[in-house]
Amino acid sequence: MNPLTGASQPGNTKDRIMLRKPATLAAPMIFVAAMAFAHGDTAPRAVDTTGLPDLPEEMATENPWRGAEGDLLFKAVEIGGKGFNSNCARCHGLEAISGGLAPDLRYLEANEFGDEWYLDRVLHGYEQNGAVKMPPFQDILSQEAVWAIRTYIETRPDADEMAERNSDITALRDRVKALPATASAEEVEAVAADLDKTGDEFETLSGAPRSVSALQQAAHLLRTGASHAPMATELISGLLRN
Ligand code: HEC
Repeated sequence: MNPLTGASQPGNTKDRIMLRKPATLAAPMIFVAAMAFAHGDTAPRAVDTTGLPDLPEEMATENPWRGAEGDLLFKAVEIGGKGFNSNCARCHGLEAISGGLAPDLRYLEANEFGDEWYLDRVLHGYEQNGAVKMPPFQDILSQEAVWAIRTYIETRPDADEMAERNSDITALRDRVKALPATASAEEVEAVAADLDKTGDEFETLSGAPRSVSALQQAAHLLRTGASHAPMATELISGLLRN
């Protein structure tokens, strides 16, 4: 135990924990969930990127999908989210909200500089005094998977801001839930537009041009048909459980 700082471990664990904003009631829960992950299969896993366009063989130096819109953006975030959950969340936290085990990746700047740092860590991992703190992923993840995960990370909305809007989000969820499968395109669009409007109010912590949360994902899904309302409801409910 360091008598000055009270830290029981060497290194800068304390600094990293400080990155977590105060007053997040959800944080301990997420930490527990991240720990639960640690007991699962921890081997790095390839990510199925079906649905994303192929990228040129040579590795890009900047996220090629930064600023993407529509189907491409939502596909990248969906696949990136799966890739993140199976390979990164056990250390970096669910939804990329760090529980203190590893840096909070939501703050990694969404620009070429941040990408360079991201690529270096993801491809080569990180070793300290001969111990692997983070495994290298260069033989496991395709370039499409690497950038999909990057897109997912940088579009995370500010979770604290979202927590403060729980009642608005609940009201939106209930409107989606009440949509009948026979709803007209106009009725669906009215709800989808409001989901987008609220979703777009949440900023990223990375400086990326826009956040993508379950709200915009639900809107995107609804626009493909009112019969998807139950799935969209489920997506938004996931936000409220966090
Ligand atoms: C076994 C735990 C572990 C796993 C799994 C892991 N990381 Fe890490 N990661 C770490 C640790 C610990 C660090 C801090 C290393 C350091 O001090 O620079 C780190 C650092 C990073 C950094 C640099 C962040 C910064 O602010 O300096 C990035 C980017 C990163 N990881 C991305 C990822 C991605 C993406 C994945 C999944 C594909 C992943 N990591 C999987 C433990 C892990």
